[in-house]
Amino acid sequence: MCGIVAGVAERNIVPVLLDGLRRLEYRGYDSCGVAVLRDGAPQRVRSLTRVRSLDLEVREMGLEGGTGIAHTRWATHGAPATQNAHPIFSKNEIAIVHNGIIENYETLKRTLSGAGYEFVSQTDTEVIAHLIHSHYSGDLAQAVRSAVSELRGAYAIAVFCKSEPNRVVGARHGSPLVVGLSGEESFLASDPLALSDVTDRFIFLEDGDIVDLSRDGNRIMNRAGEPVAREPRTLRHPPAEAALGPYRHFMQKEIFEQPLAVAQTFPRKSAFDATLFGATDPHAFASIDRVLLLGCGTSHYSAMTAKTWFESIAKIPTQVEISSEYRYRETIPGRNTLVVPVSQSGETADTLGALQHAQSLGHDHTLAICNVATSAMVRQSRWSFITQAGAEIGVASTKAFTTQLVALFLLAVTLGRARGHVDAQQEATYRAQLGGLSTALQSVLAREPQIIAWAHELARTNDAIFLGRGSHYPIALEGALKLKEISYIHAEGYPAGELKHGPLALVTDAMPVIVTAPNDGLLEKLKSNIQEVRARKGQVYVFADADANLESAEGLRVIQMPEYYGPLSPILHVLPLQLLAYHAACTRGTDVDKPRNLAKSVTVE
Ligand code: F6R
Repeated sequence: MCGIVAGVAERNIVPVLLDGLRRLEYRGYDSCGVAVLRDGAPQRVRSLTRVRSLDLEVREMGLEGGTGIAHTRWATHGAPATQNAHPIFSKNEIAIVHNGIIENYETLKRTLSGAGYEFVSQTDTEVIAHLIHSHYSGDLAQAVRSAVSELRGAYAIAVFCKSEPNRVVGARHGSPLVVGLSGEESFLASDPLALSDVTDRFIFLEDGDIVDLSRDGNRIMNRAGEPVAREPRTLRHPPAEAALGPYRHFMQKEIFEQPLAVAQTFPRKSAFDATLFGATDPHAFASIDRVLLLGCGTSHYSAMTAKTWFESIAKIPTQVEISSEYRYRETIPGRNTLVVPVSQSGETADTLGALQHAQSLGHDHTLAICNVATSAMVRQSRWSFITQAGAEIGVASTKAFTTQLVALFLLAVTLGRARGHVDAQQEATYRAQLGGLSTALQSVLAREPQIIAWAHELARTNDAIFLGRGSHYPIALEGALKLKEISYIHAEGYPAGELKHGPLALVTDAMPVIVTAPNDGLLEKLKSNIQEVRARKGQVYVFADADANLESAEGLRVIQMPEYYGPLSPILHVLPLQLLAYHAACTRGTDVDKPRNLAKSVTVE
């Protein structure tokens, strides 16, 4: 997704800007660009290829400057094209980079066109550039403040202008923006990671903040133009996880990191009470009588899996909502509902919006399950649990998913304890299962060679169906999502019992049907569903628990998993589906870590 890096210094900051863009590359983008103020005018280079090529062009041009802005763009308004790439200029006087979406850009565009502004891009960003220009009368920060007061939607922007050479102004609403402090120098970025080589001290701007960076430091004001103080925070940047090591792709590396990530996410010595989730009072969950889980994509599937645990272990009514639907739907809030946004990045605009919507309805028991401790979602929530997946670089989520599941399982047991449905003996059993998870996952990963053979077959198909039941239905959905996003094979996940209500019509001898088959209470029902597929000559591929009594036969291929692992079984069963998708994608030669059209951290609606 879009990334911003900007700054003001006495030295040439172009290398800092380009290095920042390189660090944000993993998020996905389709064009990039950089602009500096040189010889009294903004100058820019924009590229439809990679930051590496942008860097070469910048060197060839000798582009240098102490005031600059840079961007990676993930297209929303207007195709990936040079004229739509940022930085965007207004009359060669104002230069801007922008993350987010401006909802009223058409109205503003009409007004600005009427006032004589010419539009050369299809972006909503050009509207902001011209709007700032139209308000400018010698003070860039004031012009930005007036302009953003007319915007509806989400934005993080960084702007400089020709007439004030040593100044960059930033503003945010709904999209993240941080100030990086390094001695006399100040920088802006949409993610602290972009500035990890420059500083470890950051100010997280809040919605409505406008920051004025100059060589003398920085000033922050609110929408009303009043100065506001924001405390700097020192961040420990993730270590050199960005190195691939022996792996071919980050996704593969991250799949194999799961045994460790899962172990690190389970704090073995902690009690199962509310302090595990950041509360000071161990009994803070005593009044909770419902759970509302919010998430998108893979995080939505972890929430769906967790619902089965919340209801079976803690006996607590649980609702799971897709964030983008929940935030615009009329719902009935409950005073004692625990609202749990689930997110790898903690910046996903839809989930952040859903959380804010829940808060606006009066929900004040909020608990973020998130992989980024400094994220907006964690800051916005009353309590939080930080998963220990480490940086996830591959766009397709893997270790974030399994660590979310661990966190949600811990929450289910904690609520079960608080509500008297989990006794000490049961708790000890769950602890032992969590403790052994890492070893069990390693034994699943050892099946990679068998999975590769299946992936070669799957890579030849255009469609696939994934089936599961109960807590493994969301795992089937996740398997289908992984396959389609990185291999571009069309795939659908279904609860196996639903097959005969429609999708069975798709089953022929050319249709691979992938089944996740734990030895749980639904196994016999699932076996009947498998027979329904075989009877129509569908090609069935089953990941079956060793004690599930399923053997390969005609039209039925089986890879044996370890024995049934109890309620944590979904965590084991998702691994082979991740590997299957990964190797199918490799066979098809797709860009596994940066699949087309997708972004890592989806900060627009
Ligand atoms: C799929 C994937 C996405 C994310 C979704 C939510 O592999 O990664 O579906 O899960 O965009 O992102 P987070 O978890 O950052 O809120």
